[in-house]
Amino acid sequence: MNRHAISEPSAWISRFAALVPKDGTVLDLACGAGRHSRLFLARGNKVVALDIDISDVADLAKDPNAEIVQADLEDGGPFPLEGRRFAAIVVSRYLYRPLFPALIRALAPGGALIYETFAKGNEQFGRPRNPDHLLNPGELLEAVRGHLRVLAYEDLILTEAHPAAIQRICAVKETGQG
Ligand SMILES: C[S@@+](CC[C@H](N)C(=O)[O-])C[C@H]1O[C@@H](n2cnc3c(N)ncnc32)[C@H](O)[C@@H]1O
Repeated sequence: MNRHAISEPSAWISRFAALVPKDGTVLDLACGAGRHSRLFLARGNKVVALDIDISDVADLAKDPNAEIVQADLEDGGPFPLEGRRFAAIVVSRYLYRPLFPALIRALAPGGALIYETFAKGNEQFGRPRNPDHLLNPGELLEAVRGHLRVLAYEDLILTEAHPAAIQRICAVKETGQG
């Protein structure tokens, strides 16, 4: 049974999907039911879909462009995809702060980090409320400063059907940037 209903991709990630070359491989980190994996597969990209629980992307195993990786990102071990390079890394509704340096390293030159998750202030609307899972003001900007060029950043309260405090960024690794 699906833990997550497969919903529409995030508007933020959809907006910047066009930046990603069609022949580039996309990492969907903490992919859940793979709504963003599916978005990029539909665009013709190869996708690596990683989660601690891959049951909701099992159907993608038959897609030759999809690679499913089961891994615990928080077990204190090395980043499971160390040494791989991606044209884009998408992260949505997931935060584990120690991963930021590995994610930046894992971007190929020209690669884009497209990240959207909950921020402090979300406590008033619902989960997550745990500060470990809520970004501090400006935290995504700080995480990429000196490493990536920021194309867009927002820190706002979404007032749609399910109000939420979020931050989101799209930032690219320029040639020569670490
Ligand atoms: C709120 S869901 C978001 C799913 C997807 N990114 C989306 O936006 O639809 C958070 C995901 O993080 C995954 N996750 C939580 N802890 C994890 C860990 N230690 N390692 C890998 N994935 C983890 C969960 O299994 C879950 O699929």
